[in-house]
Amino acid sequence: MAQALEALLYRSQIVNRIGPLHMVLLVERARLYNQIAGITGHLIYVDYSFMQYAEGPPAALDVLWRKLQCDPRHFAVELLARFPLTQRRYRGSSLKFSGQPYYQQYQMTGFAPVQPDDMATLLASCLAQQQGDGAALCVTGR
Ligand SMILES: Cc1cc2nc3c(=O)[nH]c(=O)nc-3n(C[C@H](O)[C@H](O)[C@H](O)COP(=O)(O)O)c2cc1C
Repeated sequence: MAQALEALLYRSQIVNRIGPLHMVLLVERARLYNQIAGITGHLIYVDYSFMQYAEGPPAALDVLWRKLQCDPRHFAVELLARFPLTQRRYRGSSLKFSGQPYYQQYQMTGFAPVQPDDMATLLASCLAQQQGDGAALCVTGR
């Protein structure tokens, strides 16, 4: 039987602006943890905010969520969505990272320059998917 998959989406605020090298380190370490835990996803960093989408086994997401809530590098960690998934959206990407274009100089893999509407687009797609799955569950009566 296929392993259960869930997704979570949160938004948070940065305590102090995180320097680029610290940010690269944060992402690289998170990727290592995520590979071990079977988590894939996307982290968007713009101005003083983060938005992260993570998908993987529910128990692994529970562990990640607990860690994120007590990580002193950010605050106001707000869960925006959590929902079941039938298939991954970020297969093969332990943590895509979208940030300011100057991150290109660090030659990170899985980096994309952030676009103005990236957070809004990610939020809208997750809410649509959450509602879609919820509706499907109601229709089939499961
Ligand atoms: C914005 C942000 C995103 C993070 N994303 C991840 C992540 O995707 N995976 C992960 O393991 N840790 C992530 N971390 C780091 C965790 O909060 C935690 O520091 C890390 O998992 C180390 O946990 P440990 O103290 O148990 O070793 C993130 C931290 C921040 C501030």
